[in-house]
Amino acid sequence: MQSLLLTVTLFVLVAVLQAQDDLPFLSEDKNFSGTWYLKATVKDLNSTEWKNPKEEFPFVVRALENGNMEVMAVSMYNGECLQIDILLEKTEKPGQYSAFWDTNLMYIYELPVMDHYIFYSECQIFEQKVYAGELIGKDPTENHEALEEFKKFVQQKGFPPENIIVPEQRDTCFPKDHFAALQKCKP
Ligand SMILES: *[C@@H]1O[C@H](CO)[C@@H](O)[C@H](O)[C@H]1NC(C)=O
Ligand SMILES: *[C@@H]1O[C@H](CO)[C@@H](O)[C@H](O)[C@H]1NC(C)=O
Repeated sequence: MQSLLLTVTLFVLVAVLQAQDDLPFLSEDKNFSGTWYLKATVKDLNSTEWKNPKEEFPFVVRALENGNMEVMAVSMYNGECLQIDILLEKTEKPGQYSAFWDTNLMYIYELPVMDHYIFYSECQIFEQKVYAGELIGKDPTENHEALEEFKKFVQQKGFPPENIIVPEQRDTCFPKDHFAALQKCKP
């Protein structure tokens, strides 16, 4: 009898601990519209094989009436600035959005640190599933507490911690060739 009680107590304890590990999803009543900064990223891909941008630019989110969101971002790719517009469609599941014809499922978690969230996504790239986590915040300054929370999340999801990248924040994207072209134009 006593051992049964102990077992039950342990079960409850484990359940409580697991619940504490899980971050809450973005609450439905929050309007996510505005400018955001990508403050840290992690992928489950071997980072030496994957070219990760070391510079990030602010991105803009527009919350639509139907619960969907529009993300307008700029990314540096091979020295060029690429404008990326993504429609995140709200699915039936809480906190879940889909993009790129359902090949990308994304969850938005709220952090206990003000104005900081985590995007957690699962992408189907050809036959392979790739997982990614992104720490985002309302301002570009480094937030130690938020980064610690992100590290906890990374560990909990089983990403290799050495894959965490903290990019440099840039206001605007200038194509790398732009400078080379200017140099060439000098008399
Ligand atoms: C990552 O890739 C590099 C180069 O392909 C390889 O040398 C290294 O062993 C890989 N690391 C892991 C953890 O797979
Ligand atoms: C969120 O707020 C923006 C203005 O900040 C507004 O344009 C937009 O309609 C709002 N979205 C929702 C779903 O309330």
